[in-house]
Amino acid sequence: MQTIIHKNAEQVYDAVTKQITEAVRIKPDLVLGLATGSTPVGIYSRMVKDHQTNGTDYKKITTFNLDEYEGLEGSHPGSYRYFMNDKLFDHLNIDIQNTHVPSGTGNLESACKQYEKAIENAGGIDIQLLGIGINGHIAFNEPGTSFETETHIATLTEETIKANAKFFGEGQQVPLRAVTMGIRSILKAKKIILVALGKEKAEAIQKMVRGPVTELHPASVLQRHPNVTLYLDEEAASYLK
Ligand code: F6R
Repeated sequence: MQTIIHKNAEQVYDAVTKQITEAVRIKPDLVLGLATGSTPVGIYSRMVKDHQTNGTDYKKITTFNLDEYEGLEGSHPGSYRYFMNDKLFDHLNIDIQNTHVPSGTGNLESACKQYEKAIENAGGIDIQLLGIGINGHIAFNEPGTSFETETHIATLTEETIKANAKFFGEGQQVPLRAVTMGIRSILKAKKIILVALGKEKAEAIQKMVRGPVTELHPASVLQRHPNVTLYLDEEAASYLK
């Protein structure tokens, strides 16, 4: 695991954006795994700016998002499809047909299987962008999730529901379940970039890097992947010293 520590979030956003945009320039049909949440927002805004300024071309790329809430249509402002369109896809010259976010509605069981197949048919994910939950989750693989899981329906923990309430309006219930890529699906990516910012992530990062590999701290499984780079600000890295 390679660890790159920057002074602050802005510098982390710059560095990760550079990695992604360079990869797109080198491989115009890159398959990119994307995440939602607060951490990637600064990266997506920089990708949009880079596209407008430098013309980085997304015409041929394919994307796969990690997860989606159960029961939310893509038109729901709390859905991850809405988030991705709003923050990124609507502002790039990407073919929206080539952007994949798991479906939160309809027959979820068969949609999960189809999602794995679609990733495989695209040739697998070249670069997977990840955040990390304060409880060590990656995607919506909460503590206790088997390392053998592929795309599946997950029950969110109280902690995650609380942390994500900020993305929903007052009085709006955060869905209790989600469709998520599994640990095994994530480990199949050729390269993984995990981004963590702020003091509240410091303990999760320390356990991921230094702790035992255990299903109780899902991100620890990344110790087994041959090509992982962590981009941290000083606060998120503060327990590593
Ligand atoms: C989002 C996802 C989650 C987040 C994690 C951190 O697609 O899969 O695992 O990456 O919950 O969220 P933020 O960035 O909001 O702290």
